[in-house]
Amino acid sequence: MADGLTAGPGAGELETHDFDVVVIGAGGAGLRAAVEAKERGLRTALVCKSLLGKAHTVMAEGGAAAAMGNVWSEDNWQVHFRDTMRGGKMLNNWRMAQLHAQESPDRIHELERWGALFDRTPDGRILQRDFGGHRYARLAHVGDRTGLELIRTLQQRAVSMGIEVFMECKILRLHKDSEGRVSAAVGYWRPTGSFVAFTGKAFVLATGSIGKSWKYTSNSWESTGDGHAMALWAGADMIDMECVQFHPTGMVWPLSVRGILVTEGVRGDGGVLRNSEGRRFMFDYIPPMFAAETADSEAEGDRWYDDHTNNRRPPELLPRDEVARSINSEVKAGRGSPHGGVFLDIASRRSAEYIRRRLPSMYHQFKELAGVDITAEAMEVGPTCHYVMGGIRVNADTEATTVPGLFACGEVAGGMHGSNRLGGNSLSDLLVFGRRAGMAAADYAEGRTGTPTVDAAESRKVVDEALAPFARDGGESPYDIHRDLQETMQSLVGIIRTESELVQAASELDKLAERAGAVAVSGGRAYNPGWNLATDLPSMLAVSRLVTTGALARRESRGGHTRDDYPKPDPEFGKVNLVQRFDEQGRLTLTPEPLPQMPPELAALFEEPAASPAPAPGKEGH
Ligand code: FUM
Repeated sequence: MADGLTAGPGAGELETHDFDVVVIGAGGAGLRAAVEAKERGLRTALVCKSLLGKAHTVMAEGGAAAAMGNVWSEDNWQVHFRDTMRGGKMLNNWRMAQLHAQESPDRIHELERWGALFDRTPDGRILQRDFGGHRYARLAHVGDRTGLELIRTLQQRAVSMGIEVFMECKILRLHKDSEGRVSAAVGYWRPTGSFVAFTGKAFVLATGSIGKSWKYTSNSWESTGDGHAMALWAGADMIDMECVQFHPTGMVWPLSVRGILVTEGVRGDGGVLRNSEGRRFMFDYIPPMFAAETADSEAEGDRWYDDHTNNRRPPELLPRDEVARSINSEVKAGRGSPHGGVFLDIASRRSAEYIRRRLPSMYHQFKELAGVDITAEAMEVGPTCHYVMGGIRVNADTEATTVPGLFACGEVAGGMHGSNRLGGNSLSDLLVFGRRAGMAAADYAEGRTGTPTVDAAESRKVVDEALAPFARDGGESPYDIHRDLQETMQSLVGIIRTESELVQAASELDKLAERAGAVAVSGGRAYNPGWNLATDLPSMLAVSRLVTTGALARRESRGGHTRDDYPKPDPEFGKVNLVQRFDEQGRLTLTPEPLPQMPPELAALFEEPAASPAPAPGKEGH
């Protein structure tokens, strides 16, 4: 095995598996895509870096947004579409937002038929909870463990269909044939360190997020941007990568668990944010575009603001970008909690029984990790890097990327959420577009001519590059480089950005790339976390570069992207995607390209007068 290749059919050859459709990533989107391709009778592989069932989707807690109208019969796909577009500050791909709003209810009902056990309304329908930016309570949920139930259900379905699953396999690169179609994916087995290739007629990327480039993140260890980077290197267009979401509420204390998600479900179920003075500071931050008036209704025991559609909302349920920035401002103004966050209080507003029933994971999380009883005390919370709205540019209907034979769905794909995602739209996104990607990949595979193969010279290069850190004496530890990358992204490309800091970040990234080129590791290849991290660094650096370059170019504030030096949205930037790609000379380019034009019948939805009022959400009762 000295050459780094496992013994395959002949010694020295690369272990190779051949399929029609190869899905990379086994979170909700990947599982849903694989199920669809398999249903079409195609030979389908599901390849994942972690163990099946452990994907980051399990961390999505509060629910999946779908306009089923079970709690508010007034809800429908048009309102959901409008909320999503407004939440994304109109940068969304309108067609994706439309398909998502229209198809989410079917995907949730389908999941239920496949065995998902959602919480129920008193009359036995799927219960829906409130979340920020959604006009109506529309998140189908299972307590605060919705992602886990979704994965459990899809995994059971995938396994029962006989989909072949390849676990603990890190894919490094995609290869193309002479016609520019993706033909193979090359990677290695984490348990042995031996290399492997998957050939296929169509490939679906469903690799999730990029959060591990930041110091404080809700993302799990897999979120190193592998799919984003592989698509970029294969020639795909990347859009709006500067649009990164900082979820308002991550744990801030103890430091060892800083960043872990505190579900928006806490606020959806009645929790409020307070500063060190005990004040509900969010009332100070309601942007005029959201509020017509604020009011104090002691009779209801609640304060609320009235939005322009006559809808009473607690300001804690403003879209995430607004809430995260407000928390940041309170902390900066010296009104934060002892450990640099603010207080999230549900104890004073809901009974202990209600909290334990609705938020069992939060109850245990704080009890076990922080020694805090959330039925009696407030939680300390602060923003945490959570999600990237930008990603691989895809066709809205098929999820085809700009590279033939390559499809992308879930978080790795861009467009659906514009510049800010509404909570709960991610779980339904991965069901809707996972299914669509699986269908389109199956169509493509069926129509593809020729037999995909692995290019020996190219795979040799991938193997040599991956093994190079073992051969270096005296190089740097991957952990040091990763730590410095996280510090750089956290402090210079974080929730509030400025030109000078972004320029500094770009120069730090140059230095980090140089250091990563000289990274050294020791020991064997089997389950070697240092080596695994060394092979993650190229993708983390690539996505960090995309985010920083995009953030420098977008001289405005929109959604999750806030520029201190350009604090307002600029209508001209609201008309374009910032597209990054490699040119023929291998240089990274950035071009503003017009957004797809919304048809008049959908544009009209944004001119409608106030809809019927919905009372304040988050009432104790269900
Ligand atoms: O807050 C949450 O439960 C996260 C959900 C989401 O990001 O959609």
